[in-house]
Amino acid sequence: MAKIIAIANQKGGVGKTTTVVNIAAGLAELGKKVLCIDLDPQGNLSDYLGYDFTGKRTIVDVLKETAKLSECIMTAKSEPIDYVPADISLATADMFLAQTMCREQILDKAISSDSISENYDYFLIDCLPSLGILVMNALAAADEVIIPVQVQKFALNGIVQFEDIFNLIKEKINHDLKICGILETMTDNTQMAQAVDVALKERYSGLVYKTTISKRIEAANSTAEQKSLISKKNSVIGGQYRQLVSEILEKEGV
Ligand SMILES: Nc1ncnc2c1ncn2[C@@H]1O[C@H](COP(=O)(O)OP(=O)(O)O)[C@@H](O)[C@H]1O
Ligand SMILES: [Mg+2]
Repeated sequence: MAKIIAIANQKGGVGKTTTVVNIAAGLAELGKKVLCIDLDPQGNLSDYLGYDFTGKRTIVDVLKETAKLSECIMTAKSEPIDYVPADISLATADMFLAQTMCREQILDKAISSDSISENYDYFLIDCLPSLGILVMNALAAADEVIIPVQVQKFALNGIVQFEDIFNLIKEKINHDLKICGILETMTDNTQMAQAVDVALKERYSGLVYKTTISKRIEAANSTAEQKSLISKKNSVIGGQYRQLVSEILEKEGV
């Protein structure tokens, strides 16, 4: 059975998608089988992995229960990573899920009713920046959550709201849900970055990863090239994500 990790933070632009792709590439490099699930109508993850947005089956079909998860799987253009794409039609999820029973648990049901989970070591769910029904679905399906935090002003305000929804889902639906870790992204030498680092460690002590991801232009380039940073020789951020993958596996005791 695959371990399911959601990558979430209701702020946009904090590095969620970049983190999903590079953790996936780092795990794949170690021979793990990884399935990424794009749960953002912007489809950035799908784009990053080389999806051409030509109307194939997407996560929308899974949530509408018109296709099984296993029927929507694609393979990334340039690395051994599988994914379920998303496109803009996912933006109407609030509407098409409105009449559905237990609508926070559609993804969870789709995963557990499909034997496909046995073929993978990890499912990584890329969340959209919101606290709505799709993120609830991700948290209801997940074993663990990684929260990327861009170390800048107001970074903490966001996570406090995220904690509320996390606690709600944990209490009502998914009692074993855990925070896998908090990842500082786009770090630099500013005082702000240091202040956020101190504040995060005060509040979450053991949960903050030792590995941090620097702010570097190569990240933006990698999105455009549709290739992970891990797969690029001499990439500094690729090296940091590789380090992060080791840290995640160490925590698991693997
Ligand atoms: N470590 C980094 N340094 C500089 N830019 C980054 C870094 N990580 C991501 N980016 C860029 O910042 C933007 C937002 O990142 P993304 O991963 O898409 O965040 P999110 O999924 O949280 O919206 C993208 O253009 C991405 O290329
Ligand atoms: Mg994203």
